[in-house]
Amino acid sequence: KKIPEVEQLLEKMTIEEKIGQLNLLTPGGGVATGEVVSKNVEAKIKTGNVGGLFGVASPEKMKKAQDIAVKNSRLGIPLLFGSDIIHGYKTTFPIPLGLSASWDMDLIKNTAQIAAKEATADGINWNFSPMVDIARDPRWGRIAEGAGEDPYLGSAVAEAMVKGYQGTDLTANNTMLACVKHFALYGAVEAGRDYNSVDMGHVKMFNQYLPPYKAAIDAGAASVMTSFNDVDGVPSTANKWLLTDLLRDSWNFDGFVVSDYTSLNEMIAHGLGDLQAVSALALKAGLDMDMVGEGFLSTLKKSLDEGKVTETDITNACRRILEAKYKLGLLDNPYRYIDASRPEKDILTEENRKIARKAAAHSFVLLKNENNILPISKTAKIALVGPLADSRNNMLGTWAPTGDVKYAVTIKEGFNNIAPNATINYAKGSNVLNDKELAKKINVFGPRVEISNETPETLLKEAVAAAEKSDVVVAVVGEATEMSGEAASRTDISIPQAQKKLINALVATGKPVVLILMSGRPLVITEEFDLPVSILQVWHPGVEAGNAAADVVFGDYNPSGKLTATWPRAVGQIPIYHSMKNTGRPAPENDQFQKFRSNYLDQPNAPLFPFGYGLSYTTFEYSDVQLSKQKIAQGESITVSVKVKNTGNYDGEEVVQLYLRDVVRSITPPKRQLKGFKKVFIKKGESKTVTITLQPEDLKFYNGNLDFVAEPGDFEVFVGGNSNADLKKSFILE
Ligand code: IFM
Repeated sequence: KKIPEVEQLLEKMTIEEKIGQLNLLTPGGGVATGEVVSKNVEAKIKTGNVGGLFGVASPEKMKKAQDIAVKNSRLGIPLLFGSDIIHGYKTTFPIPLGLSASWDMDLIKNTAQIAAKEATADGINWNFSPMVDIARDPRWGRIAEGAGEDPYLGSAVAEAMVKGYQGTDLTANNTMLACVKHFALYGAVEAGRDYNSVDMGHVKMFNQYLPPYKAAIDAGAASVMTSFNDVDGVPSTANKWLLTDLLRDSWNFDGFVVSDYTSLNEMIAHGLGDLQAVSALALKAGLDMDMVGEGFLSTLKKSLDEGKVTETDITNACRRILEAKYKLGLLDNPYRYIDASRPEKDILTEENRKIARKAAAHSFVLLKNENNILPISKTAKIALVGPLADSRNNMLGTWAPTGDVKYAVTIKEGFNNIAPNATINYAKGSNVLNDKELAKKINVFGPRVEISNETPETLLKEAVAAAEKSDVVVAVVGEATEMSGEAASRTDISIPQAQKKLINALVATGKPVVLILMSGRPLVITEEFDLPVSILQVWHPGVEAGNAAADVVFGDYNPSGKLTATWPRAVGQIPIYHSMKNTGRPAPENDQFQKFRSNYLDQPNAPLFPFGYGLSYTTFEYSDVQLSKQKIAQGESITVSVKVKNTGNYDGEEVVQLYLRDVVRSITPPKRQLKGFKKVFIKKGESKTVTITLQPEDLKFYNGNLDFVAEPGDFEVFVGGNSNADLKKSFILE
């Protein structure tokens, strides 16, 4: 349905002004993730050659830019102001992979609401988030930015974030446009190497990778960003099947599509032609806005003159940009988001920091608790060691360009805040890594890996001395920020050697050792797991890192996070995820090697930690799984109930998970797939009956014709606290 205000505006526009709206620029100053930064931005705004800006923040700067557009361009069309607010604005929340480990959709939505409130206070009205790429290859650094491997969970997170950012009224000055990215399949780049090619069959694509994008669209996401990769040999940015046939015609998306940073120009390197050719291809495919590359700006008029694109193609794209401005209320009031009094009131408030602390604590996953050493007493003598123990530069995590490390609480500070009566013997113990060349590659946005002037031997000695005079050792180790994230793929995802040495030396002291592990991805920690250590995975926890870590270590919060991506035993197992297929020659039940079966000579098939895994300071026992029916008809739902008892000594939360196996169907089924979950709080000694209802669509899948169907036959339901859940019931779909 056309919007009269937009149509009236379109009537007045020259073709050059319409092309101008399709141009998104960044004047620089923020984080540039490509080689190009836009030139002569002011002059271009004046001539009506800019639709939006990103990488600019603060009401003063926005006002200046908006003034140029509104007062100095012929038609005075306001600008969109975009930004990458991936896990919080100034109040930085845990990296998205961590946040997803909370399995708490209300909490996740709340972080998005806070991000929107803070960002809009600085004049931003369009957010390049959520990133919903399913990722099953932890070598890929951008696994940090999404919700992990699973399409069901990923869809729930996508919906929560879109609703959090956009609210129910986009004209409100504390909501902003969401931009679901990276469309599509960016998380499946070959070999986990960033920007690489993707090749995937359509059945897998529809069943496993596309659902979160669709969920974001269904939740009302107002814009979509294309991905850098190709899909079926056509880069997403010019992929008509993706951008028009699927997104608009099949999913009824009515917002606008923006390219990723110079992804339009990069199609020259992909091998699709020169800038004019790729720009015309992209417009025809359904791209509306060109990020930074200026391919549209510099070539579309020529393509129009040569009959390679039509005026309607250009008008349609322009209409979608103007409609977004209309939805935000900018056509009414270009200054709706610009209010100099807001930053002070709305950004990085105590209230917001409290949620950041909660979100961080809820994202932590207890991987191992050797001799139940955790939680630690607040009066213990603690050796707090490790290169990340007192490292403000590494708390926020990747893609937090709007955050500021100076506001981050280090682990050491958090320990002092929460346990002032503990004795803390601090020592750095080791560098994150000792390779200076590698450190240089990681340190592009700031000093994440700082190589000490002291020798590795001296550092180690200091840590061992601290351990020897303490009751317990807490070592904060793992990846520095920017060892994950964009263009941070790794072939070796273990803890760097320098830190391995430290861990071994600490264990050799005979003191109990707790590893607080930071990373932006699942790591391979098989060697560390075999040591007598406890392991608390904290991702990169955000601005309240230290306080949240201390809350959990000292027992003020009982950890409840569960992994949302499988942790392999060895890199050679990748890709590895819980919903793998049985194959025709499955490995034996006990996972012992058998010749001529689908297994490895040198490793079992099982990962080190399965999807959905995470311990608590208490224990939960599952029993009495019941189904509401034994047989259901097409279109009927079925309810699964299970009794969960807290059998340990602490109150705690548990993520009750439901997996489904479609036993026989026309497309080989995964062994099990997540189809429901509920996070519940249970007091020690108490039980709760948890019910989860499977809706008719939970039984459906895309078949060989890509029809979304449920096929009659047997289904098995598994319920428990991770994807190895073994309580099982069966039902029949008639
Ligand atoms: O939004 C990002 C995207 O995720 C990666 N390339 C740059 C964009 C804008 O900063």
